[in-house]
Amino acid sequence: MKIAVLGDIHSNHIALEACINHALERKVDEFIFLGDYISDCPYPQRTMRVIYEMMDKYRCHFIRGNREDYMINHRNQPGERWTYSSASGNLLYTYENLTKKDFDFYESIDIQGIYIKEGYPAFRYCHGSLTSSTELLKPENENLESIMLNLDVDLLIGAHTHTQEVMQFGKKKLIHPGSVGIPWYHNGKTQYMILHGTDKGWEEEFFQLEYDVDTVKEEFVSSGIMEKAFYWSKLNLHTLYTGDDYTSPCLQLAKKLCEEGEENVSWPDIPEKYWEMAFQNFIT
Ligand SMILES: [Fe+2]
Repeated sequence: MKIAVLGDIHSNHIALEACINHALERKVDEFIFLGDYISDCPYPQRTMRVIYEMMDKYRCHFIRGNREDYMINHRNQPGERWTYSSASGNLLYTYENLTKKDFDFYESIDIQGIYIKEGYPAFRYCHGSLTSSTELLKPENENLESIMLNLDVDLLIGAHTHTQEVMQFGKKKLIHPGSVGIPWYHNGKTQYMILHGTDKGWEEEFFQLEYDVDTVKEEFVSSGIMEKAFYWSKLNLHTLYTGDDYTSPCLQLAKKLCEEGEENVSWPDIPEKYWEMAFQNFIT
């Protein structure tokens, strides 16, 4: 029994297709998708097309990530203001490229799932955690140990961290398969895993694959996303080429500089000059 597990695609349909093709060559039986299908890279509709094709052709399991939650919440809160800017332009661009079918799909799936098949131990999977799409199951999370020790199965698979790693808590195991679309470390190679199942348990096999990053870069330009979220896009491109991610620290610094330089300005209205200063602090 072989299951390909793919998380954090972030609209990178080119990396997604590289991982899917690699998994199909290895004759996987099923696919699990861990959410964050969209945002960050351009043309979310191209990723969603691949997702719907996979749904039609193969046995697939889907859950929802925090990025899908952001889109659903935005649709339900007309007062939430997103603008074309480095702070919220990427989210707004993504939102404007989604269809009713996409929203219906996101609303039809949960933020976590359980895999049950006769002859194999059951395991659980989630995007953030079993109770929150934004919770990070990292060692610095003080809830992590109790979450794992109270788990009713021996294996939990999570995403959202964008790193490939295994953590053991007694006989309970936590696996992060890495990110397909905005992968951290490994020089930016796209990442996923194949789970190999026997009646005794599940073993992970991690992959890091080269793929066509230059075409993703061309799509950043042709899509217009650069004009709509300039520094955010530059940060994402930097991550794609290096595996080094500065999006969160850069956002925090831009916010801090903005608070120091302006009165009563908050996210998403951070003037681009603060983004530029923050960006230059991290990337020269
Ligand atoms: Fe996420």
